[in-house]
Amino acid sequence: MSVLVTGIGELTTNSDATGDALVLDGERIAWVGSSRRAPAADEHVDVEGRAVLPGWVDSHTHLVFAGDRTAEFGARMAGQPYTAGGIAVTVDATRRATDEELSEVVRKHVAEALRQGTTFVETKTGYGLTVADEVRSARVAAEHADEVTFLGAHLVPPGADADTYVELVRGEMLDAVAPLVRWADVFCEEGAFGHDQAKAVLEAARAKGLGLRVHGNQLGEGPGVRLAVELGAASVDHCTYLSAADVDALASSGTVATLLPACDLSTRQALPPARALLDAGATVALASNCNPGSSYTSSMAFCVATAVLQMRMTVQEAVWAATAGGARALRRDDVGAIRPGARADLHVLDAPSITHLAYRPGVPLTHAVWRGGARVV
Ligand code: NIG
Repeated sequence: MSVLVTGIGELTTNSDATGDALVLDGERIAWVGSSRRAPAADEHVDVEGRAVLPGWVDSHTHLVFAGDRTAEFGARMAGQPYTAGGIAVTVDATRRATDEELSEVVRKHVAEALRQGTTFVETKTGYGLTVADEVRSARVAAEHADEVTFLGAHLVPPGADADTYVELVRGEMLDAVAPLVRWADVFCEEGAFGHDQAKAVLEAARAKGLGLRVHGNQLGEGPGVRLAVELGAASVDHCTYLSAADVDALASSGTVATLLPACDLSTRQALPPARALLDAGATVALASNCNPGSSYTSSMAFCVATAVLQMRMTVQEAVWAATAGGARALRRDDVGAIRPGARADLHVLDAPSITHLAYRPGVPLTHAVWRGGARVV
């Protein structure tokens, strides 16, 4: 089944393709060009001057969770600092949940994101922290998400000895979870895992054939960014507190700096130095970090608006970071761009240009969404 889309007001492709029309054929984009030379298709949709862009690629979420942390959020808004200690609250609730309950939480949030134009989602384990609970989290994640990351090294479980837990994560837990996931991640931060512990986990994961990601520099200028660059990780996520050396290291590496502005707002941190990263030549992605503790939003449009209004990214940079940047962070070349051969993931805005994403912040602008060639909104 092929679909010809015409009447595109502004087309953002993140590729060499240009035009005001395109054709989807099955799960792929088949053609992009001028409507005057458009090939025939089974169906025709006129988007009447609206902007079309690739579906959002949300490269950082934590959707396998149970429970609620509204009270912690309230305390934070009343002045309490975010310490990541609340992860243990979610671990407790997650362990108590049934497989069906966990699956429903992930399904619901992936569907919520899709309604807002997110057509590709990464999600993580990390609220299980036992071998059985991490395996179950990975299975549930894989039911609904496009990419799954093992985050057994999210927090040392309360009462556990840190070094003993690191040995469990890089040994028995990794052996059990590795066949179910593509990526491994470590929360490398004071209060979570230090440089050597994080490195030990990541090297073991790499030996198992997993790609690497790092949670780094979220709460302070820790060693996460340096470690991610040293190990050639695909991305280092958060990057809220960066030294000049961190910025330079990212700029001369292939590691994507994934910025999570909704998290920084929700935890009342500074916003990440996006301008310094971009000006230095680093590759920047934007992601939601949707999780019940530090960033309970699935809205990539909110992240884009924040990046433009408060982080001095241009609209074009922010949209690229939330589409092609996310794809780069996940080492995918089939999503995040509109070009022949790419997955047919389209986001049509009820607006003539992507500028409206920042010009009209908070307004739901999603008009239509295709995912893998199927119209879902
Ligand atoms: O990316 N930094 C660690 N992990 C999550 C927080 C999870 C939580 O507070 O539950 C994050 O912000």
